[in-house]
Amino acid sequence: MRRNLFVLTLLAAVLIVLAACGGGSQPADAPVQPTVAPTQPPVAAGDSAKGKDLFAGTCSACHGPSGEGVTGLGKPFTTSDFVPSQSDEQLLAFLKVGRPTSDPANTTGVDMPPKGGNPALTDEQLMDIIAYIRTLHQ
Ligand code: HEC
Repeated sequence: MRRNLFVLTLLAAVLIVLAACGGGSQPADAPVQPTVAPTQPPVAAGDSAKGKDLFAGTCSACHGPSGEGVTGLGKPFTTSDFVPSQSDEQLLAFLKVGRPTSDPANTTGVDMPPKGGNPALTDEQLMDIIAYIRTLHQ
C-alpha cells in the first residue's frame, strides 16, 4: 500500500513538473513576432539631379540631350511606354544588359549597349539616371 502511494505521488509530481515546463516553453505560447516586410528596395531610389548630368555624359548622344530620341539611334523617353511600365529594379537590370539587335524586343536594328557603353557606371549612378529619365515622360 505505502509503495503504491509513493509511486502515485511520484507520478503526480512528474506530471506536474512536465505540465509546468511544457506550458511555459510551448512555442505556441511565445508571442509571435510578425515578419517585417523589407520597406527598402535593394537599391535606394536615385537622385534625378545627379542623373541629369550622368545622362548628358553617357546617354544623350543616342537618346538626345532632352531624351527626345535621335533618329537612327536611341529611342525617345518622352513617349516611351517601356520606361513607365518597368520598376526601378527592372530598369536597372535592363540597363546592365542593354538590348542588342539580337533581342526580339529590339525595334530599331541598333544596339542599346550595356550601361549605354559606359561600364564605369555604378548601380547607384544607374538609379540616378533612371530617376532622371522618368522625369522626361510627357
Ligand atoms: C550607342 C547608342 C546608345 C547609348 C549611348 C544609349 N542607348 Fe539606350 N538605346 C539605344 C537604342 C538603339 C535603343 C533602342 C533599341 C531597340 O531597338 O529596342 C535604346 C533603348 C533604350 C531604352 C528602352 C527604351 C524603350 O522605349 O524601349 C532605355 C530605357 C535606354 N535605352 C536607356 C539608356 C540609358 C539610361 C543610357 C545611358 C546610360 C542609354 N540608353 C545609352 C541606344 C543607346
